[in-house]
Order: sequence, then structure tokens, then C-alpha cells
Amino acid sequence: MRSTSILSTSLLAALPLTAQAASGSGKSTRYWDCCKPSCSWPGKAAVSAPVFACDANFNRISDPGAKSGCDGGSAYSCADHSPWAINDSLAYGFAATRINGGSEASWCCACYALTFTSGPVAGKTMVVQSTSTGGDLGTNHFDLNMPGGGVGLFDGCRPQFGGLPGATYGGISDRSQCASFPNALKPGCEWRFDWFKNADNPDFTFTQVQCPSELVARTGCKRADDGNFPAFSPPSGGGSNPQPNPQPTSTQGGGGSSPTGCVAAKWAQCGGIGFTGCKNCEAGSTCKANGDYYSQCV
Ligand SMILES: *[C@@H]1O[C@H](CO)[C@@H](O)[C@H](O)[C@H]1NC(C)=O
Repeated sequence: MRSTSILSTSLLAALPLTAQAASGSGKSTRYWDCCKPSCSWPGKAAVSAPVFACDANFNRISDPGAKSGCDGGSAYSCADHSPWAINDSLAYGFAATRINGGSEASWCCACYALTFTSGPVAGKTMVVQSTSTGGDLGTNHFDLNMPGGGVGLFDGCRPQFGGLPGATYGGISDRSQCASFPNALKPGCEWRFDWFKNADNPDFTFTQVQCPSELVARTGCKRADDGNFPAFSPPSGGGSNPQPNPQPTSTQGGGGSSPTGCVAAKWAQCGGIGFTGCKNCEAGSTCKANGDYYSQCV
């Protein structure tokens, strides 16, 4: 169902149909199948560029026509399409979506603000950009990207790096299992047990919003009609303290890095326009810019 409540009737009449902001209530699941996102293919929607895909070593690849690793090819999901916490009440991330009254052309690279309504994350907000669409998803269904969330039908993680532990659906069950993940996927894996409190498929209400620049920086994909949607305004702080370190730090195997002090873990974000977290990378990694909006400890 599409809601027109956010736009005035006169403004709405002047806009193309695609500018109607989708909203409603929906259901979530979680996954990380390592496959090339479906919105990484050209021609899916009117966008600036298809969603970045990466090679087996998590480096961005330039050929949008590269075959998916889930189909014998060499294109996989990029590690920075993992979720991350801004503070205790707000997180950013990515999802596979299927929304009532739309199609791939309206979902690819669109952003949605989700407010969870059930489970331990009730009241928290997550803004996601749609990087994949799913024919196997129900309506108003957001399959949230999180490493270790389960590979589902197509397991691209096995060809990419030998596979992830955990159940096909639902994935791992304990934060300690994140330690065996490729380094690039550890922060996103730990996010599930930290910010997300290991919530099990929480429900939510959602509205379509303009994509925050931090999300576009990680996908390289912005919709042509993005400016027609309402800007995302974060929920006002509810008294809980902002986290001094918005990036989950993970101790690398044998690294022995100190848990105290503000040090960004290898592969975590360490800079970029609008970034307010830790800018010092842990020993053995340095902060490298990947465009104006995203620097990463590599
Ligand atoms: C979380 O961050 C958002 C965006 O910076 C801010 O508007 C909001 O007040 C913060 N919330 C808390 C509880 O700190």
C-alpha cells in the first residue's frame, strides 16, 4: 500500500507516480548469501549506477555485467553492505525488499526508514537501502543484510571464501561465532548481537525516505527520483547516551588490540563526510579513503 500522507496533494499532482513514498508495516528476516546483489545488474531502475559488487577478496569490481558467484561467476556482495550502528537508537544498513504495489524498478536503491515494533529492538530505527529484490519474499518483506544471518537458497559464501557457519536460514546463534568470519565481515556479524540485540525477525513500520549519503557512498547507487522523497529525520534522542564509538570493534585473531580507547577495527569505517566515529585504525591497518563519504581501515 502506498501512502500519500507525507506529500501535499498539490505537490503530489506535480510528481510522477514513482515519487509516491511507500509506507506501511512489514516483516523482516535476515540473511547474508554473498551473492551479487540483484540491483548490481544494469537496467533494473533509473539510477546513477548499479549497486557495487565485489570480487572474492571484497574489492569493488567495475564490470556491472560480471556473473554472480552464486552462478559460477566472480561477483559477490561487498563487505561494506553490512549494517552499522550510528548510536544506540539508529543504525544504517541494506536489505533485499519486496514491497506492496511496487516492482524492482521502484525498489532498487530506494531507502526506507524502519521503526521496529517488536522484540528487543522495539522503538529503534534502521534506515536501509534496497540492494536486492526477492521473488521469494512476501509482501512488505525486508530481508536485512547481516553477515551470519543465514545463506538461504543460494550460498555464494562457499565459493567466495569457503562458507559461513550456522543454519541455512537464521545463520549463527552466538556472537563468538563471528570470530571465524573473514575480517571484512566481522563488524557486521557482531552488530547483530550488539545493536540489533540478536532480535529474531522483528516487525516494523516503514516509510520511504531520501537515501542518506552514507548509504549511497557504500553502494554507488542513487535513484533518479530520490530527491522527491522526504528527507530522513532521525528520531529525537530518547535520553540514551550516544555511543562514543559507533563502529563495533573486533579484536583480530592474535592481534591483542586493546578494547579500551577509540580505535576502529580493521575493515571498519574510519572517516568520510559526516562520519563522527573513531578515526584511528587499529595496529596493522591504515585509514584509506574510498570516495568522499567513506574511508575504511585496510
Ligand atoms: C542518534 O543519531 C542521530 C543522527 O545523528 C541523532 O539525530 C539522534 O539524536 C541520536 N540519538 C541518540 C539517542 O543519541
